[in-house]
Order: sequence, then structure tokens, then C-alpha cells
Amino acid sequence: MHVLIINGSPRVKKFSNTDKILQVFNEGMMESDNTYEQYEVSNRNQWEKIRNAFDRCDNILIALPLFVECIPGLLLEFLETVTPKSGNATMSFILQSGFAEGVQLRCGEEYLQKLAGLLGCRYGGTLVKGNNFSIRLVEGQERENMTAPYKDMGRIFGQKGNFEDEECRKFTGPEIFPAPVRLLVGLMFKTFAAKSFEKTAKEWGCTRPLKDRPYQAG
Ligand SMILES: Cc1cc2nc3c(=O)[nH]c(=O)nc-3n(C[C@H](O)[C@H](O)[C@H](O)COP(=O)(O)O)c2cc1C
Repeated sequence: MHVLIINGSPRVKKFSNTDKILQVFNEGMMESDNTYEQYEVSNRNQWEKIRNAFDRCDNILIALPLFVECIPGLLLEFLETVTPKSGNATMSFILQSGFAEGVQLRCGEEYLQKLAGLLGCRYGGTLVKGNNFSIRLVEGQERENMTAPYKDMGRIFGQKGNFEDEECRKFTGPEIFPAPVRLLVGLMFKTFAAKSFEKTAKEWGCTRPLKDRPYQAG
């Protein structure tokens, strides 16, 4: 199988978590008899090449980060420029995010299912997983621990050409954290994280508090 892989992150390849995930995923996929070509929508110079590959390839995999609970605008902007397919192509997705609970990715997943149809493709499923904020910020063993599970998924995809396997469904992890963990995370965001966000904002030149609501009525 030959796979067209599109990294849908607006972040350039060097800084993209999606890219680090794909590096490991592709290793798994290449353990069976496959080939692939990969492009990044963050590089507008590649858009013509991606469109050509889109017309040519029947196995399309779009890997993307969740941005504000949905799909990055740049990826949508690119997809509006492709011609929907009319043959037997399959389109699958890797949807990854910062926060770990599966539930917040489900709306995006539903949309991706529709998107495959709108682009004239059979839907091959979406590999859904969060907890990826810091992949690009760590190195060595720490990064390997975060990305290694994607190798198994690459192996399955390489053999089946889609994410319909039960293992891919289970890959997401917890749909929602247990109540004590949610309480703890809530507390963390109100205290430690809030302080750290304020500090970063100040460093970046913000002069008003982050909870400022200048347009709030009353
Ligand atoms: C503008 C922006 C919006 C984001 N929105 C979400 C979100 O709604 N939920 C979430 O879990 N992570 C969110 N994230 C985190 C990214 O999904 C996460 O860091 C991802 O691994 C980034 O992949 P990339 O480096 O390939 O772009 C957001 C990140 C950015 C920069």
C-alpha cells in the first residue's frame, strides 16, 4: 500500500508534535510492505504537490492536532483547494491533542467522518489520543515514552489500511477523568497554573490580568 500522509498542523515541521508522532507511527507502518510520501500544510510551497498527490493516491492519512476543540483553520483552508475524489479512496485520520480526556476530541472526530465523505473518500476511522502537549519540548527517552505507543498503531494501520481495529478504539485512553482527578486538575488551574500563565503573559508584554473582561456588560 502507498499512503499519502498530510500533517495538518499549522506549526512548522520542526516544532510540530504531529510530526514527532508521525515519525514513530511511520516506523510501525513500514514494518509491512508499504511506502509513503509526507507533506506539511504549514509549508504553503508544498500545497501544489499535496494536491497532485491527493489526486494520485487512494490511501490518504491526515494527521492533525486539535485546535480549539476542532480542526486547524489552515488545514481547512488547504482542503478547500482540493478536488473531491470519485474513485475508491480511503481517508483516515490521526487526531491528537494536548488535554488527555478522549471526550473533548469526539466532536472533531464526528466532523472528520463527515469530511472524508465530503472529499469523496471512504472513511477509514480516526485514531484519537490526547496528552501530547509536551512531545516537542522533551527529548530522548522522555519523548520516546510519549510517542512509542503510536508505533503499534502504525503497525496495525500498515497491515489493515485503516483504524477500524478494536485496538485503535482502545488507544484513546480515558474518556473522562475520575471525579477526584477532575477536582485536582481544576484546583491546579485555579492556583499553580493560573500563576504560571500570568507570569508568561507578563513576560510576553501583557499589561492587564488574564481574567480581564473589558467588554463584559455592567
Ligand atoms: C491555538 C491552539 C489551540 C489548541 N486547542 C486545543 C484544544 O482545544 N484542546 C486540546 O486538548 N489541545 C489544544 N491545543 C494543544 C494541541 O492540540 C497540542 O499541543 C498538539 O500536540 C499540537 O500539535 P502540533 O505541534 O503538531 O501542532 C491547542 C494548541 C494551540 C496552539
